[in-house]
Amino acid sequence: MINVTKTYLPNKEKYQKYVDEIFESGWITNNGPILKKLERRLAEHLGVKNVVLVSNGTVALEIAYRTLDIEGFAITTPFSFVATTSSLVTNNILPIFADIDKKTLNLNPKNIEKLITPNTSAIVPVHVFGNACEVEEIEQIAKKHNLKVIYDAAHAFDVKYKDKSILNYGDISTLSFHATKLFHTIEGGALIINDDELAQKARYLINFGIQNSESIPHLGTNAKMNEFEAAMGLCILDDIEKIKQSRKEVIVYYQKELESLVEFQEQNQNATENYSYFPVVFKSETELLKVQKALNEKDINPRRYFYPSLDTLNYIEPKQECKISRDISKRILCLPVYFELEKEIYEKIIKTIKENI
Ligand SMILES: Cc1ncc(COP(=O)(O)O)c(C=O)c1O
Repeated sequence: MINVTKTYLPNKEKYQKYVDEIFESGWITNNGPILKKLERRLAEHLGVKNVVLVSNGTVALEIAYRTLDIEGFAITTPFSFVATTSSLVTNNILPIFADIDKKTLNLNPKNIEKLITPNTSAIVPVHVFGNACEVEEIEQIAKKHNLKVIYDAAHAFDVKYKDKSILNYGDISTLSFHATKLFHTIEGGALIINDDELAQKARYLINFGIQNSESIPHLGTNAKMNEFEAAMGLCILDDIEKIKQSRKEVIVYYQKELESLVEFQEQNQNATENYSYFPVVFKSETELLKVQKALNEKDINPRRYFYPSLDTLNYIEPKQECKISRDISKRILCLPVYFELEKEIYEKIIKTIKENI
């Protein structure tokens, strides 16, 4: 079975050396030396100030809201993975959906201001499929209305905007390092925080709110990453350029072959691409279903990212409707892209699409 992605595994001996180190020290979790090394290396690699590693990307979002004391309403996008929305609801924050731009697939900043009320405390945009949001426009709106901005940057590892990491924008950016991601730590995630005091608060929050052996000033949780996960991250960081290069080759080929048949996501011209996904938009859901079925029959499993649109979730009250997001989510499919995906497979995928459109 060819899935939409395949987990990249590093050199086994290299990983084994870290495992030996862990067994020698006996330090397997709780802010260990390997985790600290990964935080330092990531900060340097990405060009950001504070990296707070956590156990997954969902909890990274939740910690971000708690670090910034977000409450009431947050304006967010309906076109994302469900965790963007569910993390808000779990923290008693009501998601207010601003519809997306049908070309960039990101939250359209033009739709934000009309949704702001005295209850709004934050904007939670997503750099969908690694495509950078209109960060400057969003920043201006946030400043004008005194709102916090938390970017769900789960897909945006290594993306640069005007030569700087996109993760420097907003009050906090969060990442997912799940095994399916471009850069991963098996399970994992991170918060990128410019402000040192806020970064310190986030560090307390991921460790039960404990400040020291005598003081627990915050309501925290357990969101720590362990040493085995951090070791995986160190191994993969060494290989990240070759991983991106291999994925780029697949995507460039898909684009050349499919450009007259389907629509592609319009990329932010001020930003770099990280080749983490390859979404294609069909003319209709019927066309998508036909292609999907034909691919499934050949044991190829593309994914309907993101479907359904999050404004249709049954646990969100009051009901909201974002027409563009609903329409796109019915017509979009992510094609398989991963390190060293064989050419004969992506040629087969292209041929199947051509035969079914
Ligand atoms: C946009 C987005 N946000 C959040 C998450 C949650 O990350 P995790 O799976 O690490 O909890 C994901 C995961 O795929 C995602 O795609």
